[in-house]
Amino acid sequence: MRAYDVIKKKRNGEKLTAEEIEFLIEGYTAGEVPDYQMSAWAMAVFLQGMDSQETAKLTEVMAKSGDMIDLSPIEGIKVDKHSTGGVGDTTSLVLAPLVAACGAPVAKMSGRGLGHTGGTIDKLEAISGFETGLSRDKFIDSVNQQGVAIAGQTGNLAPADKKLYALRDVTATVDSIPLIASSIMSKKIASGADGIVLDVKVGSGAFMKVYEDSVELAQTMVNIGKEVGRNTIAVVSDMDQPLGLAVGNALEIVEAIETLKGEGPTDLTELSLTLGVQMLLLAEVAEDKEKARTMLEEAINNGSALAKLKEMIDNQGGNGEVVNNLDLLPQAENSLEIKVEDAGYVEKIAAERVGVAAMLLGAGRETKESDIDLAVGVELVSKVGVEVEKGDTLAVLYYNDEQNLAEAKEELLGAYQIGSEKPEQSPLIYEIIN
Ligand code: URA
Ligand code: CA
Repeated sequence: MRAYDVIKKKRNGEKLTAEEIEFLIEGYTAGEVPDYQMSAWAMAVFLQGMDSQETAKLTEVMAKSGDMIDLSPIEGIKVDKHSTGGVGDTTSLVLAPLVAACGAPVAKMSGRGLGHTGGTIDKLEAISGFETGLSRDKFIDSVNQQGVAIAGQTGNLAPADKKLYALRDVTATVDSIPLIASSIMSKKIASGADGIVLDVKVGSGAFMKVYEDSVELAQTMVNIGKEVGRNTIAVVSDMDQPLGLAVGNALEIVEAIETLKGEGPTDLTELSLTLGVQMLLLAEVAEDKEKARTMLEEAINNGSALAKLKEMIDNQGGNGEVVNNLDLLPQAENSLEIKVEDAGYVEKIAAERVGVAAMLLGAGRETKESDIDLAVGVELVSKVGVEVEKGDTLAVLYYNDEQNLAEAKEELLGAYQIGSEKPEQSPLIYEIIN
């Protein structure tokens, strides 16, 4: 077999066989197929697409290109949740203890963030002492005993995807639905979950800007799950404005704690409950949607979800007291209120620009090597639909370093669009695909 013929076949819009996909991906991972041939192939896929069998095969081969984590020593059905990314998405921090408190085992491996704010692992490191570098044994024992653990990714997960993603990034072939779907699913499959709940974001702050594309991406990933034997459900949710009110690492820990107390922002609470319902169903700890929802609401109301977070923090070396005393988290030295300049209704909040503002203050990484400041970030005070007067507060910037403050303020003001008519609210949850 020659890479040339596989590229030509896809260029001509033909369907590739399992052997051809295997040959190409394995050859690329081993360094036998060069970047220039792989780039041409990625562009052919971008232009011609792939059907569901080809996409599932690509996913499987990429998943098997490195370590395949075995979670079978953990009792029960392990369900993982993955978001396609957005700004200020605090759902993982809420869901891990919440779902565990309802009896579903949560063995979560998370990454650091490259982008506007840190990833779940960075956020958790805002809790002093919290250890995310767990050994395999400690990780598995923790889930068996406490019902929940969150650890940083270790080992060599889906190296074929890592290499291909870097190549796509510089060859204008990222935004291809079969390539995105196989990239995300290959990593989830290699991390060992039995069931996968996907939160596919749509809107200005998401990968998918257009509703139809987000549904197609969701459907494609659900099909891959079916083809490879992992139950997968996708929720399509709004990312036209940031989720919740907090964008920043310690700020999002505070927001998660408040949400677990039943005092969180409505959108974050509602999305967490919606995703939690699907996780409990896949984990087979609830028979139907209504029962699952009741279980989650009770865990919030009776304090068991918050107690589970404390237990998880204590077990991983952190100070669990933080759930009762938010002053134990890092605090920024200064804050600046951003005021309304013209009265009206908040029509839009460009999520992307809020993310950039948070990053400028130091909440996110510009490059892999950047350090992040766990204390800083943005708190949104007024969200879409709110009527504001001149002088009202739109948002608060928390900062330690003044260097980028003016620029961050400008981004934030630019993110807000104020108009004279009350805007129609876009729904938070568009669709659930299974
Ligand atoms: N996230 C991924 O992991 N892969 C993609 O291709 C796009 C987003
Ligand atoms: Ca948030």
